[in-house]
Amino acid sequence: MLEEKAVKEMDESRQGEALKLENQDNKSRKVLIESYGCQMNFSDSEIVASILEDNGYATTRNAEEADLVLINTCSIREKAEQTVRKRLDFYNSVKKQQPSMTVGVLGCMAERLKSKFLEEEKLVDLVVGPDAYRDLPGLVEEVKDGRKAVNVILSKEETYADISPVRLGGNGVTAFVSIMRGCDNMCTFCVVPFTRGRERSRDPESIVNEVKDLAEKGYKEVTLLGQNVDSFLWYGGGPKKDFKKLTEEERESSVNFAGLLGMVAQAAPNVRVRFSTSHPKDMTDEVLHVMAAHKNICKYIHLPVQSGSSRVLELMNRGYTSDWYKNRIEAIRRIIPECAISQDIIAGFCSETEEDHQATLDLMDYVKYDFGYMFMYSERPNTVAQKKFVDDVPHDVKKRRLSEIIEKQNQHSLERNKTYVGKVHEVLIEGLSKRSDQEWYGRTTQNTVVVFPKSDEKPGDYVHVKVHDCTAATLLGKRVEG
Ligand code: SAH
Ligand code: SF4
Ligand code: F3S
Repeated sequence: MLEEKAVKEMDESRQGEALKLENQDNKSRKVLIESYGCQMNFSDSEIVASILEDNGYATTRNAEEADLVLINTCSIREKAEQTVRKRLDFYNSVKKQQPSMTVGVLGCMAERLKSKFLEEEKLVDLVVGPDAYRDLPGLVEEVKDGRKAVNVILSKEETYADISPVRLGGNGVTAFVSIMRGCDNMCTFCVVPFTRGRERSRDPESIVNEVKDLAEKGYKEVTLLGQNVDSFLWYGGGPKKDFKKLTEEERESSVNFAGLLGMVAQAAPNVRVRFSTSHPKDMTDEVLHVMAAHKNICKYIHLPVQSGSSRVLELMNRGYTSDWYKNRIEAIRRIIPECAISQDIIAGFCSETEEDHQATLDLMDYVKYDFGYMFMYSERPNTVAQKKFVDDVPHDVKKRRLSEIIEKQNQHSLERNKTYVGKVHEVLIEGLSKRSDQEWYGRTTQNTVVVFPKSDEKPGDYVHVKVHDCTAATLLGKRVEG
C-alpha cells in the first residue's frame, strides 16, 4: 500500500490502469480501446481513435456493442504484460458470445511479440506496432476478409504529426502532446528501444499548432511527451539527431528542446506546460532558464535516477554518474528554487549490492524528492541486461530494498508537503476528487495534488487555495481570493 500512496495520479506503466475511451455518435461501427503503459501509449490511443474515426468508427466503453476491441499494451515489466494477458483472456471469453468481434493488440507488446501473438493467443486477430497505426483501417478489413493481420514495421520518420488526436477519456482540461517518438538510449534494462524504435522528433510547427488548437478548445494544461525530451532536435529539413553534424545554416534554423518549450509557452500563455521525461545526461541549464523565464511552464521536473550507485548506473548504461546527477539537481535548485523533482528508481538491478542500495538511499536523502515511481527490476527479453548480466538479486531482497526505498520516499513526500501547509497555492481544477463529489481535485505548478471543498468553480479554473493539512500524497485546503 505504501507504493500506492507514493504513486501519483498522472500516469503510467506505473499504474497500469486501463483507460477506456468513449466518443458516442452515430458512426456505424464501434471500437473499444483500452490502454496500458505510459503516457505515450495513452497519447497513441488518441491517435488511433482519430485514424479510426476518419474511417467510420465511433468509440465505446461497452464490450457488448464493440465490433473492434483494441488493447494498447505495455512491455516495460513482466507484470505489465501479465495484466494485458488477463485482459485478453477476458475479451476472448466475450468473443465466444460475439464471434464477429475483432480483437487486436497494439503498442509495445505487439511490437515485442509480433506474430508470435497470433500463435500464442489464438483469438487475437490483429497485431499492430506503434509505428503502423495508419495501416489499421486496412488491416481491420483484412481480418474481415478472414485473414489474421500483422504490421509491426518500425519507422524512422513516422511522428503522426498531421493527425489531430481525438481527446477522449480525458477531463477537457489537460492533454498530452507527443513531441517525439522512440528512444536511442539503450539503457541495458529497458525494452523501449526495441518496442518503439529509433528516436525521431516531430515538426515544432505541428506541435505549436496542436497546442494552440487545444487552447482554443479550452484546455488549460499540456504535457509534452517523449522518452527523452531533452534530446528533441529539429532543423528546417527534418529531424536530425546530432547537433554537431548540422551545417551552419541548419544550426541556425534548428530547434532544440529549450527552443520548443519557449515556443509552446509563448503560443499559449494561459495554458500550463509540463513535459516528461527528462534525461539527466541531456538536461541542460538552457532548458532550466526557459522554465524559469515563463510563468506558465510548470515548476516540476521528473528526473529518473534509477540508482544512486555510479557502478550500477554504468551497468545500466545511463550515461551519467551519481555526481553528475547531483550536479543537475544543484542546477535545478539554483535556477528554479521552487521546482519540484520526482524520480524513477529500480531496486535490485543485476549485481546490486547492499552498498549500491545504500547509495540509492543516500542519494534520495540528498535530493529529497517530492515523489517518485519505484520498481523492482524485471528482466526483459532481448535487452542487453538479459543477454549479458545475471538477474541475481533474489526476489525477497529486491522486495525488501524496494520497500525501504518507498518508505524513504513517503517520508520525504510528507516532509515536502508539510512545507506547503499554511501557504496559498495556485491550483488548476481538473475535476472532482475521487473521494467525494463535494470536493475538487487539482494540482499546483509543482504537480502536487490539492483537494478542497467545491463552491461555484468549474474544471479548468485557476483558483487560489490555502493549504491547512496534508498527507504524503495530497494537500488539503480551502479556496481563498487570489
Ligand atoms: N524514458 C524514461 C523512462 C521510461 S520507462 C527514462 O529514461 O527515464 C519508465 C520507468 O520504468 C523507467 O524510468 C524505469 O525506472 C522503469 N523500468 C524500465 N525498465 C524496467 C525494468 N526492466 N524493470 C523495472 N523497471 C523498469
Ligand atoms: Fe528506456 Fe532508457 Fe530510453 Fe528511458 S531513456 S526509454 S529507460 S532506454
Ligand atoms: Fe510501456 Fe511501451 Fe510506454 S513498454 S512504458 S507502453 S513505451
